[in-house]
Amino acid sequence: MEMTRRKFLGLIGAVTLSSCAHRIPLIGGNGKENPWAVAGLSDLHVNQARTTAIINRAVAQINDTRYVRFTVVIGDLSTSGQLAELNLARESLDRLAQPYCAVPGNHDVDTRATDPYANFKRNFGAPSWIHEEKQWVFFGLDTCEGAASDVAVRPDRLDWLEKRLRKLGPDRPIGVFAHHPFGPSTKAYRVKNADEVLGLFNGHNLKFIASAHYHGNQEETANGVLFTTTACCSSTRDNFDETKEKGYRLFRITGEEVTTEFVPVAVGALASASA
Ligand SMILES: [Fe+2]
Ligand SMILES: [Fe+2]
Repeated sequence: MEMTRRKFLGLIGAVTLSSCAHRIPLIGGNGKENPWAVAGLSDLHVNQARTTAIINRAVAQINDTRYVRFTVVIGDLSTSGQLAELNLARESLDRLAQPYCAVPGNHDVDTRATDPYANFKRNFGAPSWIHEEKQWVFFGLDTCEGAASDVAVRPDRLDWLEKRLRKLGPDRPIGVFAHHPFGPSTKAYRVKNADEVLGLFNGHNLKFIASAHYHGNQEETANGVLFTTTACCSSTRDNFDETKEKGYRLFRITGEEVTTEFVPVAVGALASASA
């Protein structure tokens, strides 16, 4: 599905809102909207070919879940932002049958390069993007400040977000994908200016912010907004909360409502090492 992925990357790189083709009908035979889902996986931390085995398993499981309409990789695809690592991650992700997109994590920037995002962009396109799916609008928001773990969203990205929100009406349901956590009760790494970012959504219909970085499953709802982090999908890293399960998350959508669940990936004999 390489053509589909490239087409999708081209669309999400556009300034205007974009959409992409799908094989699953939105309206069922009974005239009602079919529930559908977005898959979110994160913290892959690829560093060599054998570390993509767990991604391949996750991709196979997502491909078997026919109501998944697209997938978002929520950062830390690589270990140190090197082109070879990101190439390997893309080769595995290109096996996804439906389109996917990605936001960078702090491990996806090459701080020694002239353009720290060059390797990421070469594989996955713009670090921040917008994607429409029916009445929903999804934002990919780059939250990185170099390779820092504790960050504030940069002013230029706040401007980018504010300008695009201004073009949206108050009613459209919004989902956000960002590497660093925003949940008020997250156990670590909450974005320093999270409340300022959330304030930009005042007067809009923000439904969820899906994050990563804290390798562990967290779900909370505050002021009607669902906040999540997810266990890593990596064989080179452990979860920060010391849980053993690896996997990804589904965001099931019916109309304007969203629910979420963690989906484990069978790690079996995959190599595992703390790093
Ligand atoms: Fe990570
Ligand atoms: Fe991270």
